[in-house]
Amino acid sequence: MTNGLYRLVYRSDSLIDHDDVRSLDEIFRVSVRNNRRDNITGALALPDGKFVQVIEGRRRDVDALMVRLRADARHTNIAVLGSWDIATRLFPGWAMARPDPTPLSDQAFRIVTEDGSGVQVTGILLGMTREAATAWL
Ligand SMILES: Cc1cc2nc3c(=O)[nH]c(=O)nc-3n(C[C@H](O)[C@H](O)[C@H](O)COP(=O)(O)O)c2cc1C
Repeated sequence: MTNGLYRLVYRSDSLIDHDDVRSLDEIFRVSVRNNRRDNITGALALPDGKFVQVIEGRRRDVDALMVRLRADARHTNIAVLGSWDIATRLFPGWAMARPDPTPLSDQAFRIVTEDGSGVQVTGILLGMTREAATAWL
């Protein structure tokens, strides 16, 4: 038995200009605020005109967020890569991490942007988030 925790990974096509830093900042600002309230953790990366997001939380909170995400005109073509029950969070403390995809290898980049499974994408975003965190130490 898990304690009701759940993880969902999706990829979508961004409808925001890649240089529109203000709109991206706004997405993260609202996400961190709401996710703290809802006890949701995860990571959101923006490689190559896509959004790739890992969302962890109670099932009902993740489902409620997905309803809002599906109605959000800032992206389209949401493809759920995987969703499964979990025993523990992989992004504890991250109301929404913002890993930088620039240093990814070509292979990892392709997994994230094109053909990766939910588990593969989770692993790569986790690695990116850890590298970003340790870069400041
Ligand atoms: C790519 C993307 C990722 C998002 N991630 C989150 C998120 O993690 N949490 C969240 O609450 N809203 C997220 N949003 C925003 C939601 O779609 C929605 O606008 C917001 O939750 C509404 O919040 P409000 O009712 O407090 O204004 C995201 C939007 C986009 C386009």
